[in-house]
Order: sequence, then structure tokens, then C-alpha cells
Amino acid sequence: MKKYFVIGNPINHSLSPKLHNYWLKENKIEAIYDKKKIEEKNLQTIISELKEKKINGINVTVPFKKLVIPYLDKLSQEAELTQSVNTIILINDNLVGYNTDIAGFTKAIKKLNFNIKGKKILILGAGGVVPSIIFALNKMNVSKIIISNRTKEKAEDLKSQFNNLQVLDWGDIHDFDVIINATSLGLNQESINLDFSKFANNKLFYDVIYNPEETNFLKEGKKLGNRIENGKFMFIYQAFEAFKLWHGIEPQINSDTLEILKND
Ligand code: ATR
Repeated sequence: MKKYFVIGNPINHSLSPKLHNYWLKENKIEAIYDKKKIEEKNLQTIISELKEKKINGINVTVPFKKLVIPYLDKLSQEAELTQSVNTIILINDNLVGYNTDIAGFTKAIKKLNFNIKGKKILILGAGGVVPSIIFALNKMNVSKIIISNRTKEKAEDLKSQFNNLQVLDWGDIHDFDVIINATSLGLNQESINLDFSKFANNKLFYDVIYNPEETNFLKEGKKLGNRIENGKFMFIYQAFEAFKLWHGIEPQINSDTLEILKND
């Protein structure tokens, strides 16, 4: 039976197994998808199992999206440009790293029927998924990307990859049309403790987190009279793209798909 894994640390929160196993069953593919918590020192071992065909595909999550790169033979152009890999597949005995977070975010924004072109974007956080979000936003021709991270150097580092970024101190809020929470704050219902009230009215508040469905960041956005969206569709679409790469099939996204992600 074919075997797929999502690797990360922590990994408990991941809903990828639920979604992929549901799609595998629906498409009558004999395979199993599981999650595996690993330490950095074990990265090479698990990736070599893919090369030896003991494993058939790997999804990569925090904090390994960049760290896996040295163990791969090839990268897709998007993975290369973002230095971020979330899907690995063996093609002609080459380990190839892809980035499906970019398509995941892009499709999720397109689904909103929100014209993001020309908009000013403020990103909170500079972690693993942020290069993919910036790449996608640039492709969608936003007018400006401002970034604020608690550890300012990490935001500054992103400027070497994306030279159009403006970096703010953590706590400074700039005028924006769209604000994206890409920090992990909210996973456990902690508050962000920033004051958005000066700029926030009739804007879009987007949270990469989808579990819980409404973080305190989104609650605050709603209270201030803004549209709010969580990261559920970004998650579903990145999985959709990975499924397509591995199995050559476009899985269904419907109300049942949404339902199985609810019961956690
Ligand atoms: P990683 O940083 O390993 O890629 P991540 O989950 O992708 O992990 O990113 C976590 C993000 O949430 C980071 O931007 C982190 O800020 P730091 O770079 O300063 O660590 C941010 N974050 C986590 N806890 C936070 C807190 N209590 N206050 C503000 N930002 C926080």
C-alpha cells in the first residue's frame, strides 16, 4: 500500500491526514496518509525513505519548509524563488520539492471575490508560510506589502528575497486595505494585543489559522466592522494541489470536504 506523510514539529494540529485520507478513499486509491513528528536530525532519514520508495510522498510543515531543501535533487521554480517546500515527490529517481502554499493562498483569495489588485497589504509575522504569501501577493499585483514581526530581523531577512517590502517595528500599525495574520498567535486563542482601530473599518482581516475558526484577531476585526476570512480554503487548496501532483487527480471540494474538517 502506498504511504504518504506530513512531517513537522509540532504536528498534532495538522488536519492534512483527515483531508487526504478522505480524498484517497473517495477516489478509491489504495494508500494511507499519516502525520509524523520529527526532529531536524531525522530529516535526511525520512527523505531517503522517499528516494528508496518506502514512502511515496511527503508534505512538509513548520519548521522544515526551508530545512528540507539541501536533501532534495530539484526544486520547482516557485519553491526555488520562495526557498520553501511543502510537497515532495520522486520523479525519475529525483526528489523534487514543490510549493503548493502559493497556489493555495492565491486560489483562496480568488474565491473571496475580492479584488486584491492595487491594495495595500499588512502582514503580521515572518514564519514559514510568509514567503509564499508575499510571492502570491506580488503575482496578484498588490500595490504595497508591509510586514511586521516580533523579531524584526526575520522580517528584514525577507527583504533579501523580496525587495519591495516595507518593514515595521512590532506594534506599529500602518494604513492597510488587507491585514493578514501569519503569526501562530491564535492557535491557542491567545490575543495579538495590537491596536488596529485607527485604520480598521471596511477592510479585509485574513487569518492563516483555520483551527480555531475564529481567532481573537478575526473577532477583533469583526467587532471593528471589517470583513473576516480564515485560512481554511488556503489549507484545502494547498492539499488539493499536492494531491494532484501525487495522484494526477483533482479531488472534489464540496460541503462534505468542509464538514470533515470541522470535528476537531
Ligand atoms: P517559524 O517561525 O518556525 O517559521 P511559524 O509558526 O511559521 O514558525 O511562525 C511563527 C510566527 O508567529 C513568527 O512570525 C513568530 O514571531 P517571531 O519570529 O518573533 O518568533 C510569531 N509569533 C509567535 N508567537 C508570538 C508572540 N507571542 N507574539 C508575537 N509574534 C509571535
